[in-house]
Amino acid sequence: MAQSIPSADVAAMMADLAVSARHAPDAYLAAARTTLLRLLSRPELLDPARLVGRGEGLSRNLLFGTEAISVWAMVWAPGTVTPVHDHHCSCCFGLLRGTLRETWYRPISDTHAVATLDAVRQSGFVACMMPTGPNLHRIANEGPEAAVSIHVYGYDHRTQDSSIDRTYEIAAG
Ligand SMILES: [Fe+2]
Repeated sequence: MAQSIPSADVAAMMADLAVSARHAPDAYLAAARTTLLRLLSRPELLDPARLVGRGEGLSRNLLFGTEAISVWAMVWAPGTVTPVHDHHCSCCFGLLRGTLRETWYRPISDTHAVATLDAVRQSGFVACMMPTGPNLHRIANEGPEAAVSIHVYGYDHRTQDSSIDRTYEIAAG
C-alpha cells in the first residue's frame, strides 16, 4: 500500500512550485507538470470539499495562492464551455475527473479566431504552456458528468481576476 502523504505536504509541494516559478520557464513548467501528475495520482490528498461545483457553469475553488502562482480546482458542470481565450501568464492544468474537449485556435484578427486542433482530454491528462505563442484555446465539458481539473497559473489571484488575457469570437468558416 502506498504511503499516505499528509495534505500539509501538498501545501509544501505547491510552495516549492511557487519558488520554482521564479526560475527559468522550462524548469518551472517541468516542475508544474510533476506537481500536477503527483496530485492526479493521489486525489485523496485534496480536500474533497474543494472538488465540488456550485451549480451551473464553471466553479473555481482556490487551493493555493502566492504572488507567483495560483492553484485552482475547476469544476465543470455538464455543458460548460469557455470563450476562446488567451492567457497573460503561464497555464498548466491536469484533468482529475471526467473528460473535457480542448480546441485550439489561430487568431485571424484582434477579435476573431479559427479552430486548428481539437482533442478530447481524459482524466490523467496534463498540459503546461507559457503565454507566448499565442496559445488560444477553448475548453468544453460535453459529457454527462461534471469534470474536475487542477490549474496552476502564473498570476497572483489577489491582484488579478483570472488568467485570461483576451477572448475571441469564432470566425465563421
Ligand atoms: Fe485557458
